[in-house]
Amino acid sequence: MSVEQEKELAGRAAAELVNDGDVVGLGTGSTAYFTVLALGERVKTGLKMVGIPTSNATADLARAVGIPLGTLDQHPAIDIDIDGADEIDPQLSLIKGGGGALLREKVIAAASKKLVVIADSAKMVPALGKFPLPIEIVAFARTVVEKKVAALGAMPKLRTRSDGGPYLTDNGNPILDCSFGKIDDPPALARILSDIPGIVEHGLFIGLASAVLVGRGASVEEIRR
Ligand code: A5P
Repeated sequence: MSVEQEKELAGRAAAELVNDGDVVGLGTGSTAYFTVLALGERVKTGLKMVGIPTSNATADLARAVGIPLGTLDQHPAIDIDIDGADEIDPQLSLIKGGGGALLREKVIAAASKKLVVIADSAKMVPALGKFPLPIEIVAFARTVVEKKVAALGAMPKLRTRSDGGPYLTDNGNPILDCSFGKIDDPPALARILSDIPGIVEHGLFIGLASAVLVGRGASVEEIRR
């Protein structure tokens, strides 16, 4: 089975967890893509749901497949949020934000009764940190945040677009991709980063995931916290 097939298995399995009448957080990325497609198919055959997208890209995809959308203001309590991750450790702490949507992803995860993470098997790691941690910042604070993050032992790199121009999130902010290497204590690092002025949000998701659906070969494994 390829990585793509594992993503599709996990993404489609998660779509089956949605119940009639649910308000659903719609994740961002190449795994959540399959969940949105599968939910679109379920809506066509009668599922009643409202999607709250975590990015403009997911909103566009959801509209294209016929999923009714709402806003977080209209639906501040979300029944289930389904989203991908870049790394997942045995405590179900996550690194997210490879696709740049970490701020809305975290807001929606925190407003949800449960967050179901979907992933291919390569995302499961013994410790977080090989994947550079995405940190969304205000442009005004770039240099001071870079210095503070470097003092914590990371190498921050400003994210750029493929054409070399500055990458900006849906919220109009830059991202620093910060290579920490192995993160010994993710909850402690998350607290430190949250206290740095100029950081809008970071991609450490601690205590938010209720379960992970991992595509492994031809099957889907469920891991609960
Ligand atoms: C988006 O900002 C990210 O948090 C994604 O959820 C994460 O990068 C996983 O993406 P893939 O499913 O494409 O690997």
